[in-house]
Amino acid sequence: MINENGTDLMQETSIIKVEEKIDKKANDFERIMLIYKSAIKVLKTKFDILNEEFDNFCEYNPIDHITERIKSPDSIIEKMNRKELELTYQNLVEQINDIAGMRIVCSFKDDIFKIVDIIENFQDIEIIERKDYVTNPKPSGYSSYHMVVKVPVNFTDKTIYVKVELQIRTVAMDFWASLEHKLKYKKEISKKASKELVNAAKTIAKLDDKMMQIKFNV
Ligand code: GTP
Ligand code: MG
Repeated sequence: MINENGTDLMQETSIIKVEEKIDKKANDFERIMLIYKSAIKVLKTKFDILNEEFDNFCEYNPIDHITERIKSPDSIIEKMNRKELELTYQNLVEQINDIAGMRIVCSFKDDIFKIVDIIENFQDIEIIERKDYVTNPKPSGYSSYHMVVKVPVNFTDKTIYVKVELQIRTVAMDFWASLEHKLKYKKEISKKASKELVNAAKTIAKLDDKMMQIKFNV
């Protein structure tokens, strides 16, 4: 829940003129991107702390690695055009959930749900959307656990809650998603190739289950 002192970025009009058209070179654009970058820093620090806790106080660390990114201005505009959204700051903030993105890559499949549990227990993070493509992969074969969370960012005079998209997946799922993205990037692929990618994803899913079985039996 957003507390009494917090402001949702959507309602934050002193930082950006929400009704204005997006201008990649304007101050407003830079300021809004800075807010998203700050949200990534806040979340990254939380995971760095967990990582150190796992390494120093726990038997085993479920996190293999973490990556983060801010969507490029061109990708933001491309996505808004694709979604037929008018290019305003209001639409950017309200309708695009993955301006700030973080990927948590785990070792084993059950680690994904451990990380989800941990995120659910963060008192200051609000989960506003989730999609479990681990239990129900997408028709493409894509598998990952997605969450959109709101992260509090403290500025001098206010706390702003900022949306960040989290993708939680295994190393094997990450391998598939990365190669599939490269194969499909900016080109149509044949039906046969799509089918083969779905089969490859099923092989990856079996491999993840196998590795988890091995882990439980060592
Ligand atoms: P958006 O409005 O585009 O975010 O649609 P959505 O919310 O339905 O997207 P979804 O949550 O399903 O996926 C968002 C992100 O997941 C994408 O930006 C990709 O990073 C990743 N993703 C989703 N589907 C695929 C896929 O089939 N292949 C790969 N490689 N990545 C995918
Ligand atoms: Mg999305």
